Amino acid sequence: MSDIAEIKIDGKVYEFPIITGTEGEKSIDISKLRELTGHITLDLGYKNTGSTKSAITFLDGEKGILKYRGYPIEQLAEKSNFLEVAYLLIYGDLPTEEQIVTFQSKITKQTLIHEDMKKFLDGYPSRAHPMAQLASLVCSLSSFYPESINANSSPEAMDHTIIKLLAKLPTIVSFIYKKGLGHPLIYPKNKFDYVSNYLHMTFGQRTEEVEIDPVVVKAMNTLLILHADHEQNCSASTVRMVGSSDCNLFASVSAGIDALWGPLHGGANQAVIEMLETIKEDGGDTEKWINKAKDKNDPFRMMGFGHRVYKNFDPRAKIIKKACDDILDKLGINDPVLEIAKKLEEAALSDPYFVERKLYPNVDFYSGIIYRALGFPTDMFTVLFALGRLPGWIAQWKEMHTNKEPIGRPRQVYVGHTNREFVEIEQR
Ligand code: ACO
Repeated sequence: MSDIAEIKIDGKVYEFPIITGTEGEKSIDISKLRELTGHITLDLGYKNTGSTKSAITFLDGEKGILKYRGYPIEQLAEKSNFLEVAYLLIYGDLPTEEQIVTFQSKITKQTLIHEDMKKFLDGYPSRAHPMAQLASLVCSLSSFYPESINANSSPEAMDHTIIKLLAKLPTIVSFIYKKGLGHPLIYPKNKFDYVSNYLHMTFGQRTEEVEIDPVVVKAMNTLLILHADHEQNCSASTVRMVGSSDCNLFASVSAGIDALWGPLHGGANQAVIEMLETIKEDGGDTEKWINKAKDKNDPFRMMGFGHRVYKNFDPRAKIIKKACDDILDKLGINDPVLEIAKKLEEAALSDPYFVERKLYPNVDFYSGIIYRALGFPTDMFTVLFALGRLPGWIAQWKEMHTNKEPIGRPRQVYVGHTNREFVEIEQR
């Protein structure tokens, strides 16, 4: 098979190397295209554009394969825990027992946030969206740790910032939740593991220590693992793009949180529950809503359906659907929107509109039902996604810096006015 691609422009043939990834995927290296031909490529939404070479996550959208550092997502979801997966993503290999103990202990020592950060929380209106608070608070960490601002400091300093962010995010997330309720904040406890500590700060009370249900711990671990990375999606690309200007980790991840918020990305988990609630209140006629989703004159989209890359099934959605049944069963919860979700899925999967466009449930279709069963309010769902995605964002930022990638700066095809003469305002 050829390792050269030819592009013919005005009768002249130019050759470009074909690069093959370790999983066999092919790309044409066009880094010399403009220099050689004077042309650039145009690819709205970067549907065919590789922005980097990465060794973190592999996914095959046609076959429904997802692997972190070579390990299938199914194995990690079943056998691992979130902290171990975070280590794997950030450092490249599964930790030994000694490495995970050290990692956990370094994190445990950094879980408190500066008391002054609580003043920011006080300043937000009580109904402020948690994602707005999260992005600002994470960016604000860089003001408390000025040594983190130099993104090119030593590997030890970079690691210190990474540990700080991993340690403080659960505290920030649970403080945002408690603030939303108007309840007193609960501080971290060193005796707990990463996920249990987060649950303690979220559902604990000052008056008594609540018992942490192992079923809930397992469910949270699974959800966080499934969200931990997804290669060059909108938020990860944002983190890399912002980081490519040598911007610090806290600010780069804050930008990623903003990118995640939109309903076409991580905000879909909130949008799915709101959609299912609307359908329920409207009488539960799933056919009517399927028809609305198909109607091009109707702005309604079936939230939690479709994916830019998965065109067969989303392996995360398969695991989450099963986990959803298990958890609701174990917790003895009967959520009527689960029935509506299943009916919608069944109807959509046999409808030619969805079949032809290869639209399947994505990771967000069932995750909100689990979050709800665990007791989270709807506007916290995307924040939980961010908590899970953090190791992925860190790994992407670290890889980009370690590989010394150049600043991200796409080109454009200019289609605006050419020369115009300025006219004084009275004469316009
Ligand atoms: N409901 C109805 N129609 C849809 C949907 C949907 N959810 N998704 C795509 N389509 C249709 C489009 O209208 C388009 O139809 P056309 O070819 O007749 O014009 C076709 O399917 C292709 O859709 P695109 O928007 O071109 O696909 P793209 O890859 O750009 O978008 C996206 C992917 C954004 C995820 C889209 O499917 C969507 O909006 N889904 C709902 C939001 C959602 O669930 N987002 C979460 C994604 S997972 C994540 O980020 C964690």
